[in-house]
Amino acid sequence: MKAIVLHELGEPEQLKVEEFTKPQPKEDEVVVQLKAAALNRRDVWIRRGRYADIKLPVIPGSDGAGIVAEVGNGVDASLAGKEVVINPCLNWGDSERVQRDDFRILGLPDNGTYAEYVAVPAENVYAKPDTLSWEESAAIPLAGLTAYRAVISRAKVQKGQTVLVTGIGGGVACFALQIAHQAGADVFVTSGSDKKIEQAQKLGAEDGVNYKRENWTKKLKEMMGGGGADVVVDSAGGENFDAILDVAKPGGTVVLYGATLGPSDNVTVRRIFWKQLDVLGSTMGSPEDFKNMLRMYSTDSLKPVVDSVLPLEEAARAHHRMEEAEQFGKLVLRIDS
Ligand SMILES: NC(=O)c1ccc[n+]([C@@H]2O[C@H](COP(=O)([O-])OP(=O)(O)OC[C@H]3O[C@@H](n4cnc5c(N)ncnc54)[C@H](OP(=O)(O)O)[C@@H]3O)[C@@H](O)[C@H]2O)c1
Repeated sequence: MKAIVLHELGEPEQLKVEEFTKPQPKEDEVVVQLKAAALNRRDVWIRRGRYADIKLPVIPGSDGAGIVAEVGNGVDASLAGKEVVINPCLNWGDSERVQRDDFRILGLPDNGTYAEYVAVPAENVYAKPDTLSWEESAAIPLAGLTAYRAVISRAKVQKGQTVLVTGIGGGVACFALQIAHQAGADVFVTSGSDKKIEQAQKLGAEDGVNYKRENWTKKLKEMMGGGGADVVVDSAGGENFDAILDVAKPGGTVVLYGATLGPSDNVTVRRIFWKQLDVLGSTMGSPEDFKNMLRMYSTDSLKPVVDSVLPLEEAARAHHRMEEAEQFGKLVLRIDS
């Protein structure tokens, strides 16, 4: 089969198409013939060697949608031929609260979705929503799940709350905006690009500020009516984290699912306790979260934001676009067999 195989860490140009052995389904597995895959920041961290336990060679990619081509022993044969979306969380386990120790994400160490075929546990495939194209379906899994858990399962965003989603150009951030808006919240955003703030307003955001400008926290709080946000959804971390604590309302919640800017050494701890903040961590999501998220995106009213679609052969170009933060929403790879 055709696949992108990462043999060496480095620049996007490491992502080249080659011939690779087609996977066979093991017990309780299916092999999916992929129609589309999507990028996540994780794929960039892996390629750059900034991810734990990297094992090469590997086919990257956590997101995919396609048709079940083969079923292994122990799998209901009627699954063959079904159009599916893949949940990339492997071994989440039975707890809603936290994943198991041996939890893994598809695309490292297991071969992922930048390929014509991928083998996954049968329990990880879900019916593709009829309302979505292959590209839209592939855009959903990792980012939609992460956003759903952070916004709904962890922060429990309610109708009428004020929510801040930072770095709105990000894949997960776009889903967080849509999901919080759908829940009835007033959503504000930050971005390093004024154009992306305008794009976010078209998706339902009230307003937003550019985090590259002076005094952006003050301006943001003014936009929110002076009080700040009931819930802040952030994945930047780093030096900006203290500003996030400032924007949260007393008694508010800050939910974090990433640290794109790295560690933070300027946290005013007093802000956390004096304002009685709840600081929550969130990672991916349970099978229940995935089911609920997919249900939301199975209605005509909600579609994932796809920035652009490129052929699998141009994965390197898509990685460049992500590294330069040019995208608004998900970068998708079309896979033509
Ligand atoms: N824990 C999990 O399960 C999980 C799941 C998915 C992702 N993540 C992590 O979450 C992060 C985002 O992932 P992604 O796939 O959505 O990445 P992405 O599509 O590459 O988005 C990253 C975004 O970060 C924003 N950003 C950059 N500098 C910022 C700053 N100073 N303040 C606020 N935002 C800033 C940019 O937004 P603008 O372009 O609008 O400026 C950029 O588009 C990554 O660190 C990733 O590893 C974690």
